[in-house]
Amino acid sequence: MLSNIIVDALNKQIRIEAESSQIYLAMACWAEVKGLEGIANFMFKQSDEEREHMLKLIKFVNERGGHAFISELNAPEVSFKTFKDMFEMLFKHEVFVSQSINDLVHISLQERDYATHNFLQWYVSEQIEEEAMARTILDKINLIGDDKGGLYLFDRDINQLTVSTASSENPM
Ligand code: FEO
Repeated sequence: MLSNIIVDALNKQIRIEAESSQIYLAMACWAEVKGLEGIANFMFKQSDEEREHMLKLIKFVNERGGHAFISELNAPEVSFKTFKDMFEMLFKHEVFVSQSINDLVHISLQERDYATHNFLQWYVSEQIEEEAMARTILDKINLIGDDKGGLYLFDRDINQLTVSTASSENPM
């Protein structure tokens, strides 16, 4: 059985994951209308992953006697100055999500809720991987600079960039 404090904290995270999904969906749309198909596909996949993160939390709350709330969401940014700005925003957002997961882990320990603490370890690992991937992407974008040919290749190759290749290039 989850305490009210834990249910509230998990519901807050459910909203953050839902907003993350919307943020990446808006990025996917922007990239798609700019003709950046590879980047758009990458963002559509990221958006789906965030929805999975949200659903995993929802199931956990409902199965352990809580009630997952589906709330109103903040509207995401829908356009970006450059694709570099967009990926910088993605990176900053993931750092924010990691901080939120850390806070949640802290609350689970304060509440002595070891089942929730154990459940959250998956999110802790996931955030390490997501931050590593975002960092790798930014490194690549910085290498490209304003080179149009580089952007073409980046757009073509971004879907091959998986979390595991990102982690091996960026050992933490
Ligand atoms: Fe679900 Fe990218 O954090």
